[in-house]
Amino acid sequence: MSKKYQENVTIVDHPLVQHKLSLMRDEKTSTAGFRLLLREIAHLLCYEVTRDLELENIAINTPMGAMDAPKLKGKKLVFASILRAGNGLLEGMLDLVPSARVAHIGLYRDHDTLMPVEYYFKAPSDIADRLTIVVDPMLATANSAIAAIERLKDRGANNLIFLCLLAAPEGIAAFTKAHPDVPVFTASIDDHLNEKGYIVPGLGDAGDRMYGTR
Ligand code: PRP
Ligand code: URA
Repeated sequence: MSKKYQENVTIVDHPLVQHKLSLMRDEKTSTAGFRLLLREIAHLLCYEVTRDLELENIAINTPMGAMDAPKLKGKKLVFASILRAGNGLLEGMLDLVPSARVAHIGLYRDHDTLMPVEYYFKAPSDIADRLTIVVDPMLATANSAIAAIERLKDRGANNLIFLCLLAAPEGIAAFTKAHPDVPVFTASIDDHLNEKGYIVPGLGDAGDRMYGTR
């Protein structure tokens, strides 16, 4: 279940997604609970974000006879995780699509400038031939997501989707301006960003809540 927020921006408003997201937002949720919920939500988001993948029929034999059976068409997907918190979504996505290729983009936000600082990049060399789904739970200013996608485009990626859990309206505006060709899927667009660039009401710092580093 999903609804359009604007051209190229989809909100996945399935009741299970919304219920689990509320549990994640709750400050009383433990680190272990937060990680498990993110992995579970990733399954549900993966289902929605891959809804339009093309199929092709393959001849197989069931124990009862021959049939043309639908299978995913084309080269395997790439999941691109923006570290660290992207790995929480990545794990759940890989549960459903275990053969996907994986790119890692190491970025952290400078706390003063809110600009991303890159510390790692590794992506499949044939990314130009594959659909790439970029994952990060949080789209706040969108500076990180914009930079990650620029990096992937420089590497040749030309068929991209951005998937997050929570977005700020300011981040959606900045992202869709910078990358109008990249559809966005999110479970929620919250109220606003605070003066420190955090999503309100949000869920706090996703990386810290996932790994207990606060
Ligand atoms: C968080 C989050 C995004 C980024 C979003 O990562 O996972 O990558 O902030 O903010 P932005 O839209 O304003 O760029 P963070 O920089 O805290 O790094 P971490 O995942 O290593 O904790
Ligand atoms: N990064 C986070 O982890 N949370 C926010 O609210 C904003 C950026």
